Amino acid sequence: MNSSPWWKEATIYQIYPRSFFDSNSDGEGDLPGITSKLDYVKSLGVDAIWLSPFYTSPNKDGGYDVANPRDVDPRFGNLEDARELITQAHKRNLRVIADIVPNHFSDQHEWFQAALKSKRGSKERERFHFYDANEDGTPPNNWISLFGGPSWTQVEDGQFYLHLFDSTQPDLNWENPEVNADFEQTLRFWIDLGVDGFRIDVAHGLIKEDVLTNHPDPQGLSNALRLDVAMDSEERNALLLTVPYFDRQGVHEIYRKWRKLFDSYTGREIMAVAEAWVHPPVNATRYVRADELHQVFNFDLLTAEFDSDVLFDVVERSISLNATVNALPTWALSNHDSPRVASRIGDEQARALALFVFGLPGSAYVFAGQELGLPDGQLQDSDRQDPTFFRTNGAIKGRDGARVPLPWSGDTTPFGFSTAKPWLPISQSWKDLTIENELADPKSSLHLYKNALELRKEFLVGAGGITWLESSQHGHKNDSLLSYSRGSITVVMNLSDSAKECDAAGKLIIVSGGTVDARDGKKVIPARSTAWFLT
Ligand code: NOJ
Repeated sequence: MNSSPWWKEATIYQIYPRSFFDSNSDGEGDLPGITSKLDYVKSLGVDAIWLSPFYTSPNKDGGYDVANPRDVDPRFGNLEDARELITQAHKRNLRVIADIVPNHFSDQHEWFQAALKSKRGSKERERFHFYDANEDGTPPNNWISLFGGPSWTQVEDGQFYLHLFDSTQPDLNWENPEVNADFEQTLRFWIDLGVDGFRIDVAHGLIKEDVLTNHPDPQGLSNALRLDVAMDSEERNALLLTVPYFDRQGVHEIYRKWRKLFDSYTGREIMAVAEAWVHPPVNATRYVRADELHQVFNFDLLTAEFDSDVLFDVVERSISLNATVNALPTWALSNHDSPRVASRIGDEQARALALFVFGLPGSAYVFAGQELGLPDGQLQDSDRQDPTFFRTNGAIKGRDGARVPLPWSGDTTPFGFSTAKPWLPISQSWKDLTIENELADPKSSLHLYKNALELRKEFLVGAGGITWLESSQHGHKNDSLLSYSRGSITVVMNLSDSAKECDAAGKLIIVSGGTVDARDGKKVIPARSTAWFLT
């Protein structure tokens, strides 16, 4: 099957380095730890790894607060370790995607330290968004940070600086050519070290045109923008249409320049995927126009209910909108910012949905641990590290639950992740969910993922578009079923709590749970399950 260029229909495995595998017994995962487990990663059948940030950082936001974007934080190793990781990944035909963070730096970055020591109006301050206070002493506008609390922090001389996230993450001023030049240097640095692509953090946030405009409901907006805050979808969508600091036109000029830079590496096929949750959804397609980036994350599945109409809409919209710019969608059920899918919609439902999306055209992203069916870790407040927890005085628990380290082997926590106390506790209740245990159990979630990814590669990558067979708009006979065909495969998902009959022809090749029976020439799909049939 045609899988060129490599990223087009790739399966990409997201690794949160701090939580993957600890090679030096300090309780935190590191780059050599990842390198030592690449055979496991390869055995999953994925094509690439995306590494969440491992750069020099005071780690106030899990490394998304970068103090030096062209070096490795000693907690994770050094540049030699990064080079070795890339070399070993390539030896196994795994591509490597680095996560870059252009919207903000850490306050420990030398630029911000210099800005603090410089005067208002200085070139050092021009690299960030420094503004004078309003006449009454209040900050320049009423925006609330995405982590809670004001988006502004005051410095000694009375000026405020903008931070859409934590106060230790000052936003960069992308109108400043120095900022542009510095990031180009960073991109080249990692490409020259061997990476095959980039995940661009807050890709929709770089240009701030309306800094002096207040928002009518800044707290509501901040909640709506968080994947871990539940909200009525109508209310959320209405608020998301009003974000004053995301998705400004100017961001596209930046990505056009970056695309030229990527394409200048002939023979390398460097790709980039945008973290750009923008509204209305059609706006996301602008990021993947032919002269911009290669992929944009589709965040809708991270919050969608397990409901046939909702899922049909998400899938259909994503495929058809991307098609307008000749791009393919991306599918993600979990990441380091959202509750784990098994906790959010249930174990069986999570398996069913994974098998459903693995059949679809485009790239599938799998967050490490998702293949095991891990739930969110149950944490005490004293364990928490997410800045959101602190900035909201505990009102929002934050994202640590999804970031608990992986259970590898053995019967006792921390299950081979580390010989020291892990940075977040791993519950003893995860005993059956270790990689070792799941490898030994042919019915495990891990085997489902491995088998599905192998079949995806064999029958579906490059197989073109889908034809809906069952949905509210396509000959729906049963509103508990969602079904499509693609190439030689028919995919049927039963979302209900009881077994349902369907007309799918062909031979069963995989089912996410339970047993598919045949009755009167029909197939009976188990409750909360997806099956693939080969014709
Ligand atoms: C999105 C990242 O995924 C998240 O973890 C981070 O906190 C924010 N961007 C800020 O960088």
